[in-house]
Amino acid sequence: MGWPAAQTGHHHNGGGGRYFLVSSHPPSVPPALASLTTPTTVNNAHRLGLAPIATPERLLLGPGPSNAHPVVLEALARSPIGHLDPLYIELMGEVQELLRYVWQTDNRLTIPMSGTGSAAMEATLANTVEPGDTVLVAVMGYFGLRLAEMAGRYRAEVITIERPWGEAFSLDELEAALQEHKPTILAMVHAETSTGVCQPMEGIGELCRRHDCLLLLDTVTSLGGVPLYLDEWKVDLAYSCSQKGLSCPPGLGPFTMGPRAELKLMNRQGKVPNWYLDVSLLNQYWGSDRVYHHTAPVNMNFGIREALRLLADEGIEASWARHRSNAERLWAGLESLGLELHVPAELRLPTLTTVRIPEGVDGKAFSRHLLDRHGIEIGGGLGVLAGKIWRIGLMGYNSTPENVDRLLNLLETELPAFRPSQAPLAAVGA
Ligand SMILES: Cc1ncc(COP(=O)(O)O)c(C=O)c1O
Repeated sequence: MGWPAAQTGHHHNGGGGRYFLVSSHPPSVPPALASLTTPTTVNNAHRLGLAPIATPERLLLGPGPSNAHPVVLEALARSPIGHLDPLYIELMGEVQELLRYVWQTDNRLTIPMSGTGSAAMEATLANTVEPGDTVLVAVMGYFGLRLAEMAGRYRAEVITIERPWGEAFSLDELEAALQEHKPTILAMVHAETSTGVCQPMEGIGELCRRHDCLLLLDTVTSLGGVPLYLDEWKVDLAYSCSQKGLSCPPGLGPFTMGPRAELKLMNRQGKVPNWYLDVSLLNQYWGSDRVYHHTAPVNMNFGIREALRLLADEGIEASWARHRSNAERLWAGLESLGLELHVPAELRLPTLTTVRIPEGVDGKAFSRHLLDRHGIEIGGGLGVLAGKIWRIGLMGYNSTPENVDRLLNLLETELPAFRPSQAPLAAVGA
């Protein structure tokens, strides 16, 4: 340990000056402390000698991240500006307004959390859950389970209802659970990335209002690519990510909170038990006061600003339609190759398709082959679907007919080598 400069220095221009020099004559060190003085040599054991970074070009057709738009990448490479610079403050307003547009909400408290989707996910719960609140989580895949796990950490009384992985909830099932458990919050996933299911949302918000319960929705794999009408659907809290339908790298987690959720936050008995994600503090920076909370990741916000600008230029409905038509092209192609889709057509997500791995095929070996030979990433299954499905993402910048055709061609020409010689086309039971 070295001597702190403050103990060895003197002020250069009087007691109150700004300049401070460290004395060139440190005080004599008591013998007992001699061994604690600054070492004379540096330990180089961890000093790697590296070449400059050189990442390969990949086509990311997995569950995320997807490739970022080149214009977004250019924005990320710009020189940072101060996070209280008037120009940056203007940009913050633009990001907020465009997030409202892509989410179709007028919510005042709409901000990109500094962190990935999970940070925004945690923010929805941290701000609204009070110890002992009942949180009902409708679980139809891996990310529903994550919501339940997080809610428990904020000391909610967590109740889960479940559907098999590949199915969605009916209004009747949700209503029965609301009646039975009388939760404060119903939390659910709109686009379940682990299964490829899109939960139909019509009527759920009304049910929640009738049962005096907040509706919290995960839109991580739907924002930008799947129709979302937060206000019409009466969603009180939602979150998303930057790295999928927005064509930006991972690093920001869009967050939004409607008036009913704001009221719950205002009426809390205790402080939000998470300083970093406390929206009442964050709003002093994002609102008109501009009070410093944490140093904003300004370049990530340059990136999301550009991503949202491009999406607004395209038009959100055009983007939804593009995602659907490319997904339909993929689904038709996969079926014509004899592959089986995991989710029935009416519940399929346009952004993420789950395909059953044909019997006898080593799914991991084939996806590794695609990556090594062709630079294309696709995903494998999570949880109960591990080893049973591939997950193919067509999100944001990557949702193009060219990408669909490239993958279909490879499946047609290179998958047969991975099938056992006499294997029938039947898929592994999922
Ligand atoms: C549905 C869903 N929710 C939450 C998350 C967590 O987001 P992140 O990995 O950006 O923290 C993901 C990530 O893929 C997701 O797909």
